Amino acid sequence: MAVAPPLQCTARGAPRPETQRMKGLFITFEGTECSGKTTQAQLLADRLRQLRMPIRLLREPGGTPIGEEIRHTLQHSHANAAMTPEAEMLLLNASRAQLVREVIRPALAAGEIVICDRFYDSTVAYQGYGRGLDPKIVQTVIDFAVGDTRPDVTFLLLVPHEVSEERRLARQATLPFIRDRMEEADRSFFERVITGYHAIAAAEPARVRVIDGTGDIQTIHNQIWALTLPLLKRGVFAT
Ligand code: TMP
Repeated sequence: MAVAPPLQCTARGAPRPETQRMKGLFITFEGTECSGKTTQAQLLADRLRQLRMPIRLLREPGGTPIGEEIRHTLQHSHANAAMTPEAEMLLLNASRAQLVREVIRPALAAGEIVICDRFYDSTVAYQGYGRGLDPKIVQTVIDFAVGDTRPDVTFLLLVPHEVSEERRLARQATLPFIRDRMEEADRSFFERVITGYHAIAAAEPARVRVIDGTGDIQTIHNQIWALTLPLLKRGVFAT
């Protein structure tokens, strides 16, 4: 079995500096509410596990005990109604800084495939474009939180706002209601988030692969699988 050299690409396609070479593969999923990214992250993880690949499936905010507490504060806590955009952005990046150091870097160094349901593109789209925070400050805080830990590939699932709303209402009708502060924003906020995601994809087309999230689950999965396979063939996972 020929083993190809480890993956060494940064988000922008430039080789990682020697000191930061990681053996694993870092995949992130992004998208607006109810775009299907969580389902697709799970399907990809399941398929890779069936091939006996070492998988770490994570989510943001969250993914560590500290991060899950921050998630609760951000989304569900009764005490969060007055949260400012600045506090929100810093809490998200506190969760991220913890996740990167506690889980993602060790997993990548051990040669695992890390799949993360949201990462820093969410902050650019939601806090930068959505909340209107200064993009330079948002980027500085993200850079501080993640350092050189950048996704190799990002699957961005996009659905129009009406589709998000339809799916969210359908989900609410079947599940017990749990208040989520993030979902309380108005339509114009979510439209700015979509604009932000388009801008992110345009700026980094090699890393960010845009996927139409309105298709059926299996078709989207097949599309994501077709984009993932070449990465496996290039990396340490080549068989
Ligand atoms: P989700 O995991 O169900 O998508 O919920 C996470 C929520 O948090 C979602 O509304 C998007 C939001 N979020 C941000 O606003 N900025 C971020 O950086 C991240 C990771 C999530």
